[in-house]
Parts: sequence; C-alpha cells; structure tokens
Amino acid sequence: MSSLLETKIAARQHALREQGLLRQRKLLSVDHTLNTNASTSSPRFVFEGRAYVNFSSNDYLGLSRVPELAEALHLGAQTYGVGSGASPLVTGYSDAHLALERELCDLTGHEAALLFCSGFSANTALMKTLFDQHDIVVADKLVHASIIDGLQDSGAQLKRFLHNSLESAERLLARDQTSALITESVFSMDGDCAPIAQLSALCRQHHAWLVVDDAHGFAVLDGYHNAEAAKLIDVQVVTFGKALGCQGAAVLGSQALIDFLVSNAREYIYSTALSPANAALALAATHYSTAHPELQQKLLENIALFKQLCREANVPLLGSDTAIQPLIIGDALQTLQVAEELRAAGIWVGAIRPPTVPVGSARLRITLTAAHAAEDIAKCVAQLAQVLSRIGVPLVTERQAADDHR
Ligand SMILES: Cc1ncc(COP(=O)(O)O)c(C=O)c1O
Repeated sequence: MSSLLETKIAARQHALREQGLLRQRKLLSVDHTLNTNASTSSPRFVFEGRAYVNFSSNDYLGLSRVPELAEALHLGAQTYGVGSGASPLVTGYSDAHLALERELCDLTGHEAALLFCSGFSANTALMKTLFDQHDIVVADKLVHASIIDGLQDSGAQLKRFLHNSLESAERLLARDQTSALITESVFSMDGDCAPIAQLSALCRQHHAWLVVDDAHGFAVLDGYHNAEAAKLIDVQVVTFGKALGCQGAAVLGSQALIDFLVSNAREYIYSTALSPANAALALAATHYSTAHPELQQKLLENIALFKQLCREANVPLLGSDTAIQPLIIGDALQTLQVAEELRAAGIWVGAIRPPTVPVGSARLRITLTAAHAAEDIAKCVAQLAQVLSRIGVPLVTERQAADDHR
C-alpha cells in the first residue's frame, strides 16, 4: 500500500500534467562550437544535442559571459577562498562584502545595505522581519512570489491594488493607516514599469514607506540606480542574478533599517553568507556595467528592433518597453505548443503558465539582451509570426477585429 505522501504526490503531479502545468527542469550544456567568451554573439546553449538561441535569460547586458568578470570571480576565490565559511554574524562578513555594500549605496544614495545569497531570500527576509500582525501593507497585484511568501509569514494584513493603478493604490492608502506600499520597478512577467515617482508622492502623503523590488530594473533601467533613488524609495531590493549576470542580492535603506535586519532577520543570521568571491564578482560587475554604457544602448537597440519587427509582422506584444517582452496566448497547453514549435526552429523562449501568472494569461516571455545578434532577433520574430498563424493564435489584426465586434 502507498503511503499518504506517495499518494498525495502522485495525485498532484497527475493533476498538473493534465492541466499542462507540470514543471520540469531542462538539462542544458554549453555550445562548444561557439567561442563562449564572445559576449557579442547571441547567447546559446545545447539541449539534447541541439543548439538553441536563448531568448529566455535575465542576463540583460550579457555580463555572465564577460572574461574580465570570470577573472574577478577567480581572483576573489584566490583571495578569500571559495566560500564564506560561516554566517555573517559569526565570521562570514569580510571587506569584500563591505566594499560591495558601499558601492551599492553610492549607486543608489541609500545609507546602508545588507547582502543576501538570492533575491528570493532578500525579499522574504525583509517582509518577514519588517512587518508583523500590527501592520497593514498594500502591494501591487503582480508582485513577486517571494514578497507574497514573506508577507504571509509576517502575519501583516495584506491588501492588493490593481496593477500599476494609482487610483486603486490611493484608495487603499486612504482607507487604513498603512505601513508600506510594495511594488516592482520592472514587472518580471509583464515587463512594464511602476509609476515610482507618483507612488512615492502618495506614500509621503500617507506616511507610508515605499518598498521597491528592483530585480529587473537595477543596472538596466535609468532612474532607480542613481543617487536619487533613495529620495523616492525607502527600501530598494536589488539583485545580482539579472542584469549583473552573477548571483546574490541586497536590501538597501536607512542605517536604522539595516541594523534592525542584522539583528532580527533569520535568513541573514542563520545562513552562510554570500561568498566573498561572489561579492567581489558583483562589485566588478557593477563597475563593468557603469564603464560600458554601450551595453545598455545595445540592449535598447535590440528591444526597439524586436518591437519594430513584431509590429511589421502583426505579432501581438503587450506594449512593454523593457527587455521583457510578453506575448499573451491565454491557454497553458497552447502556450507550451507555441514554445515547442519555436524550439523546433532553434529558438528558446520561456512558456510562463499559472500560478506564475494569472489563470487565462499564459504567455511567452521573450527576453532580449545586449548580446543578441540582429539576425537572430529577426529569425525569432519570423518564426513567431509563422508559428502563431499556423497554430491559429490570433495576430494583432485579428485581435483588433475581434475587439471591434464586442
Ligand atoms: C521581481 C523578482 N524579485 C525577486 C526575484 C528573486 O531573485 P533571485 O533570482 O536573485 O532569487 C526574482 C527572480 O525571478 C524576480 O523576478
């Protein structure tokens, strides 16, 4: 007889498979036919013996393949060892960590910073530690799972406002004495940006803190990684695994907040510190991105090219201006089918399904980077248009016609 847990696991996996929602890892390897050091050729990998152009990574500036940064990691490991050896409050906090914290403060204008091994743990630690059952917190409908998990653990009363709606946010702020409003700078699944300046003004008016998850904006979006950021944003979470191409995260805010987290955040206190080599790498990556503004320019050009080609081919995008370009298909199984057909043409895009996005809004999440070559972007759009019309997903003109008849 099966145990209770075996039965539960089998039933849940079966249900997910039936709904097209089963998640599985894909084992990828390096495309050895490429010069992997070349940060100018489109990002590629090999899956089951075949090479694909990667349109689904968050390595927006292509920094993960920059040789100088590989050297910075190597040097960091030689200097400090390959691991931190302890939690930060024991013996895991070194001058490599302090140097990165200082750099992040200089870049954003915040007083102090605290490093974590991932953005997920930075967000959950912040939410769980900062809020408790006495707090009312309002958050955009689309904030990341790590924020929701942390808020649920905190016991705070959570109220959600309509995505990017100032009216909806203000209604909630006016109703109750709210401790904080939480949003993202660039939304991870929609690619649109929050109206940070206006939200900041609302928060000031209602004496609430503005907390911004800047995972997808930091180092790519002008505006929130300069010394002005701290004037608008009370707490900013930046991650190193997206545009900086490496790993880890930081919470930035006042010295009082960071001191409070140091003595209370369980994820920080009871976990091995980010390795100093990774801190040295993230520091080198911030320097590299600042010293190479042409990468941001190239990314903007690639985004513009992708959008223009999609417009010409009637491919129905959501209207994002960032590196994250979603194409809503709706049905989860059909989304998987489109992604599969693109793979048959050597193009890899993310198929995002519930619960990551709301039911009925399954989508392709296509991400552009500074490293994509123009011909690969053109190939991606051409294939996309072909596959959509073959499978019967409405193109812009057909969607428009359907809307006109409503
Ligand atoms: C908006 C947002 N916040 C936080 C995270 C977590 O960051 P990390 O990947 O460093 O854990 C992600 C990652 O997907 C994200 O999209």
